[in-house]
Amino acid sequence: MFSGKTHELILRVAKAGYAAPATLVVVPSTDRRNGAHVATHLGLQVPATPVDDAAALAHLARTSSVVGIDEAQFFDDALVDVALHLADSGKRVIISGLDLDFRRRPFGCMPQLLCVAAHVQKLQAVCQHCGDAASFTQRLVDGRPAPHTDATIVVGSSELYEARCRTCYSQGAP
Ligand code: TMP
Ligand code: MG
Ligand code: ZN
Repeated sequence: MFSGKTHELILRVAKAGYAAPATLVVVPSTDRRNGAHVATHLGLQVPATPVDDAAALAHLARTSSVVGIDEAQFFDDALVDVALHLADSGKRVIISGLDLDFRRRPFGCMPQLLCVAAHVQKLQAVCQHCGDAASFTQRLVDGRPAPHTDATIVVGSSELYEARCRTCYSQGAP
């Protein structure tokens, strides 16, 4: 988290949209932090349609030539086939998501999406402890690492999560 994924998504969708203005951006309805927008932690935002699942996305995207998908980790596995089908039918598909959950395990359908993607850009955040490059997200409950038995999906931001490097990441109780 806090690595600029949504920022990158917005820029890429905007660039692709100059040549093909029929652009659709979606977010899973699980994440209602920004209403009908995708937004960066710095405040850049664009309108986005909340969708319940990958099937709803497939239906909505029929007439779009550029499809942006944010927070892909919250979608069901069906997103992989839907993304492939959209790309196969000539649409430009740009997806942003969090690769690892707070336990540092692959998050939802992200591993499969990373495999089928033609291009992958892995971003790093800045460790909120030491300032080094951070690839992990620490979930904190009362200031302590969340136990591994916690739910995988807990929508939130800096009130719950910190970007951490390998040295500063702490394993929660198993
Ligand atoms: P962000 O990467 O765009 O900042 O947002 C990631 C979202 O994923 C945020 O709502 C918190 C959520 N999340 C989980 O649900 N479980 C997790 O284990 C982690 C690390 C994040
Ligand atoms: Mg985001
Ligand atoms: Zn660190």
